[in-house]
Amino acid sequence: MRLFLYAILYILHSLMEFQSEKLQVVGPAAPLVVVAGEDLILPCFIKFNTSVVDMRVEWFRLNVEDSLVHLYMDHEDRNENQAPSYRKRTSLFKEELQKGNASLKLSALRVSDEGEYKCFIEDKSQSDDITVNVIVEAQGSQPVIMMENYDNSGGIHLVCESRGWNPEPEILWLNREGDTLPAEDTQIHRDTEGFSVKSSITVHDYSDSNRFYCRLQQIHHMMETEIIINNKVFDVWKWIVGISVSSCLIAVGSIITAVICYKKELQKQKQKAEFLKKLFAVEVTLDPDSANPQLILSDDGKQVRCEDTKQNITDTPQRFTYDRAVVGNQSFSSGRFYYEVQVRGKTRWILGVMRKNINRKKWIIRRPQYGFWTVELFGNQYLALDDPDVPLTLREKVEKLGVFVDYDEGLVSFYDVNSRSHIYSFTGQTFTHKLIPYFSTWYNDGAPLICI
Ligand SMILES: *[C@@H]1O[C@H](CO)[C@@H](O)[C@H](O)[C@H]1NC(C)=O
Ligand SMILES: *[C@@H]1O[C@H](CO)[C@@H](O)[C@H](O)[C@H]1NC(C)=O
Repeated sequence: MRLFLYAILYILHSLMEFQSEKLQVVGPAAPLVVVAGEDLILPCFIKFNTSVVDMRVEWFRLNVEDSLVHLYMDHEDRNENQAPSYRKRTSLFKEELQKGNASLKLSALRVSDEGEYKCFIEDKSQSDDITVNVIVEAQGSQPVIMMENYDNSGGIHLVCESRGWNPEPEILWLNREGDTLPAEDTQIHRDTEGFSVKSSITVHDYSDSNRFYCRLQQIHHMMETEIIINNKVFDVWKWIVGISVSSCLIAVGSIITAVICYKKELQKQKQKAEFLKKLFAVEVTLDPDSANPQLILSDDGKQVRCEDTKQNITDTPQRFTYDRAVVGNQSFSSGRFYYEVQVRGKTRWILGVMRKNINRKKWIIRRPQYGFWTVELFGNQYLALDDPDVPLTLREKVEKLGVFVDYDEGLVSFYDVNSRSHIYSFTGQTFTHKLIPYFSTWYNDGAPLICI
């Protein structure tokens, strides 16, 4: 009885052996790693050199909905139901079919082609299949580094982005020496084009080595983008410290403007006056009690013009006796401030700041060592009233003058607002007393000076 059973088992086993010998499909054991864009042959063949010409060969994807990649049956390709993404990209090797070779050629590989493929071969009475695993390596886009904002310690927040990587790349931040810097946050998303990555870091001013690199790497690919941050961009932060929270909020937009402007060295000066205005603008009104008797102020204290004759007004201690000048109501003993004066149509003016405690009853000398930091228009000539005077060559006639003072840095700068260009700076000054905006106009030339 037992012998009989063994005999039957043996016969069954032999039958199975025989059957599997008849149709056994072979393919690659290891995954195929291919670079996107290239063509790929997915190997699949029958072990004992049996022709597949009369068989059904079906290539399909595993774990996807629209799965048919290629179908051969009744001696021809039958691709009516092929997944659209494989249309016109697949072929069998017709001469090879009779040798039992059902390998599939897939052209112009895409990241979305990555996955498992089944090669299924069916005879009238039997079938077999193998699975081929395909990995498509794709190099993503050149990384882009953005300067996003400042953190609350003066560091700059950088974000690096790149798309279209496959498989997932490694992301590194490096300094100029090639040391890796720790990223704060790295996000990776997968879509049909591969992996998108976004990584952020906060960098600080390392004085002369503000170069940073964002590097993405795979086994076969590496891409890197460099960013160079001018020290001045870090310095902008120092200006922001000390102004109120509400100003900071307003400033956010302009910081980004500034960052862009520092990147483009040529545009630097152009953007500066606007930037200073946004951050440090103060309203200046004229002090009627300081005005020389020949000067007439408007009721709102914003305009001043010069008459040919003196008005009959009471003298005050702060009134200019000889100098046809007036000062602002506002004075400053720290921080930064910026204001603009319209000078359109005028032929003579002297504008800037002076030490508040200057004796206004005497002849005055407009030089820094005597407490004046001013520029002048005299006929067609612009002059910085430094020691000695500095003639200024300006391309355009100034219609609006911007005055910026950084009291703590000892800086007084002048800008042509319309052409957005820097005119002159007094640097490295030492201010020990209050500074006050100074306006002088000498002729009845019709146009007023206007504080704007
Ligand atoms: C396979 O079969 C083909 C056609 O029948 C023949 O030409 C070829 O030599 C065979 N190859 C092997 C390795 O047996
Ligand atoms: C099947 O055909 C392709 C294309 O000619 C060839 O590259 C491949 O080596 C063949 N496979 C076998 C097992 O002969």
